[in-house]
Amino acid sequence: MSTPSPTLPGGTWTLGDLTVTRFGYGAMQLAGPRVMGPPADRDGALAVLREAVDLGITHIDTSDAYGPRVTNELIREALHPYPAPLHIVTKVGAARDEQGGWPVARRPEELRRQVQDNLTSLRLDVLDLVNLRLGDAGGPRPGSPAEAFGTLAELRQQGLIRHLGLSNATEEQVTEARGIAPVVCVQNMYNLAHRHDDKLIDQLAADGIAYVPFFPLGGFTPLQSSALSAVAARRETTPMSVALAWLLQRSPNILLIPGTSSTAHLRENIAGAQLALSPEDLAELDGIGR
Ligand SMILES: NC(=O)c1ccc[n+]([C@@H]2O[C@H](COP(=O)([O-])OP(=O)(O)OC[C@H]3O[C@@H](n4cnc5c(N)ncnc54)[C@H](OP(=O)(O)O)[C@@H]3O)[C@@H](O)[C@H]2O)c1
Repeated sequence: MSTPSPTLPGGTWTLGDLTVTRFGYGAMQLAGPRVMGPPADRDGALAVLREAVDLGITHIDTSDAYGPRVTNELIREALHPYPAPLHIVTKVGAARDEQGGWPVARRPEELRRQVQDNLTSLRLDVLDLVNLRLGDAGGPRPGSPAEAFGTLAELRQQGLIRHLGLSNATEEQVTEARGIAPVVCVQNMYNLAHRHDDKLIDQLAADGIAYVPFFPLGGFTPLQSSALSAVAARRETTPMSVALAWLLQRSPNILLIPGTSSTAHLRENIAGAQLALSPEDLAELDGIGR
C-alpha cells in the first residue's frame, strides 16, 4: 500500500515485503544507441545512477539484456555495495541479437541462465524482484505463461529470487500466473497517450499489486499532444512533468520508472512530478488517450 515519502513525489509502495519509492528510475536508456553497447558518456551514466540514489530513489529498473550486460554493470560500478533501502528490479525472457532485436528466450534453461547472469552482473546473491517478459517486441501476445513462470517460481523457492512480476502481459496471463505464484507487479507500456491497460490497472490496484508503466514519457518517441502542451503551458511547467504527475495521480499502485541519461532531467522530473493536477487539468488530459 502507498504511504507518504518525505522526499519524493508519490510516497512509497510495498512490493511484497520491499518498500520502494513510487518515483523510481529506469536504467534502459543508459546503454548505447538502440540499447546496444556502452553509453557515449560513461561517467555521466554513473553520475545519473548515483544522483538517483542520493535524491532518495529506492527502485531501479534494469535487465541484463540492456546492452546486453551494460546497464547492470553500470549499476554495479556506480552503486555496489548497494545501500539497504535500494531495490533493483530486473527482467528475463528476452535475448539480444546482433541487429539489436529482442528475440524471445523463455525456455526453462534460458530463464535459469538469465537469472544467473543477472546475479553475476549485479553482484548479488538474491534478486529482489524479477519480471517475466511475455509477448514480443510488438507487445503482449496471448499464450500460457505457465512453463516460464513456473520456472521462475522454482528459482524463487530455491532462494535466488525474492519476488516475481510480469511484463508485457495480458489480463488473462496475469490471472494464470497468479495461480502459480504471487505476482507483486505488472510492467506494461502505458502513458497518457497509450491507455489500453486502464481496466487492468484498476483491477491490480484493488488487489494491492503494483502497475509499473514502461515508456511513461513515450520512450523512444517523446509524448506529444496539443492538450498536454496546453496544460503544461497553463501550469507553467513542461509536458514531461505533467505526464509524470498524471501517472502518479492516476492510481496509487502506479510506480514510475522514467529513464534519463541526464542528472538535470532527473532532478527536473522529480520536481515536475510534484505538480498537483486540478480537475480541469485532468479533464483535459483525459481526452488524450481515448
Ligand atoms: N518491460 C519492458 O519490456 C520495457 C520496455 C522498455 C522500457 N522498460 C523500462 O522502462 C523504463 C522507462 O522507459 P524509457 O526510459 O525507455 O522511456 P521514457 O522514460 O518514457 O523516456 C525516456 C526518454 O525521455 C527523455 N527524457 C527524460 N526526462 C526528460 C526531460 N525532463 N526532458 C526531456 N527529455 C527527457 C530521455 O532522454 P534524456 O536521456 O535526454 O533525458 C529518454 O530519451 C526503461 O528505462 C526500462 O527500465 C521496460
